[in-house]
Amino acid sequence: MSSSPDTTTSDLLDKVINLCKRRGFIFPSAEIYGGFRSAYDYGPLGVLMLRNVKNAWWHSMVQMREDVVGIDAAILGPPAVWAASGHLETFTDPLVDCKKCHERWREDKIDGKCPNCGGTDFTEPRAFNLMFKTAAGPVEGEGSTAYLRPETAQGMFVNFANVLSTSRKKPPFGIAQIGKSFRNEITPQNFVFRTREFEQMEMEYFVPPADAVQWHEHWIEERFNWYLALGIPEESLRRYVHAPEDLSHYSKGTTDIEFKFPWGFDELEGIANRGDYDLGAHTKASGEKLEYFDQATNERYTPYVIEPAAGVTRAMMAFLLSAYHEDEVEGETRTVLQLDWRLAPYQIAVLPLSKKPELEGVAKEVLSKLQPHFMCDFDVTQSIGRRYRRQDEVGTPLCITVDFDTLEDRAVTVRDRDTTVQTRVKIDDLLHHIWEAMTPA
Ligand code: GAP
Repeated sequence: MSSSPDTTTSDLLDKVINLCKRRGFIFPSAEIYGGFRSAYDYGPLGVLMLRNVKNAWWHSMVQMREDVVGIDAAILGPPAVWAASGHLETFTDPLVDCKKCHERWREDKIDGKCPNCGGTDFTEPRAFNLMFKTAAGPVEGEGSTAYLRPETAQGMFVNFANVLSTSRKKPPFGIAQIGKSFRNEITPQNFVFRTREFEQMEMEYFVPPADAVQWHEHWIEERFNWYLALGIPEESLRRYVHAPEDLSHYSKGTTDIEFKFPWGFDELEGIANRGDYDLGAHTKASGEKLEYFDQATNERYTPYVIEPAAGVTRAMMAFLLSAYHEDEVEGETRTVLQLDWRLAPYQIAVLPLSKKPELEGVAKEVLSKLQPHFMCDFDVTQSIGRRYRRQDEVGTPLCITVDFDTLEDRAVTVRDRDTTVQTRVKIDDLLHHIWEAMTPA
């Protein structure tokens, strides 16, 4: 039996960070130049897992719904968008300097004491805008100012009319997007939890105003259940309802889904009732009426928006922390990532027992049978025991071993990551067997 991970220990955080580096999930960015604080690069296994997190979200939020469509909007935007959205004026954090060591901090994150030197004397807080400003085109100046988006959401609002007229959807309906966002965070921290460049998965769900509260509840439950279904234990998740005085400038109500990170419960995702703030603000600023005309009732109205807004990288971190286990197999401690198969970098590893060409030939045949359906690893080096451990450590749910009997009986050994149980399966039945094994009961 494996021990349940206590996601609250910093020991666990160190172990996961170490595993991420050692096995090619996540590297500090520009490491050969000493790193670039708070930026990370996703390695060969990390990029697979990141993609799986996004696919699992897209599957549940777009593919499985007839009322949600996707878009992929530009990252660079003109100031007009960010003036209308309120970001130019209000997307700020309170910045203070420690008068003793001159380190800069976000005031609301430090409890009155400098985390660097313990000093308690700070400058007055100044509003620091978190958006990255840049210049588009070769001539710098007023007309060339552009911003990197700090959230994907505005791409959905400014395309509301385009999507409405081309998709033939009507409220309630949603527009979903996954992509990079950028925030000049004062204190990026805790590995990939808070970085300056990160990915978001957001959906703006447009509803008749009278139905907004009901849809808000619906999406809080849907999103909570998404994390549960992908393997985060219920005791590591909770809902946090924002107090009215703490709401963002656009929100009529926000509930966060929080995960028990090693430093305590913290935000994974926010689900906000944004009312008609955004469509109203862009209508006013652009002169384009972002409304819906309901032919059945002959009414024209500005839909309210319910927004589940999640972080890809944060979700990946929570999945990794929840999946990390250590148990004992054959008298040895093994590390195993008990990732849901939809999230694991590789679903299958094909392992010829030895490097003998006749085994490798059949193993390659098995590999090419599985590759169109699953992400597969192929590993011929070291003992089979070592190879199983390597796959356990990166969360591969099934290992398929091709041995000398395979040449006679056209069957292979399928080993389960969590139970380590081995089953003999005919190559012809392999695909069917794997689908069965990976479908949740
Ligand atoms: N459109 C609303 C919005 O962007 P948010 O709460 O600021 O809301 C949504 O961001 C999610 O994006 C957060 O719950 C978090 O998962 C992720 N996120 C925000 N800032 C982040 C950062 N600096 N690094 C990593 N993820 C971040």
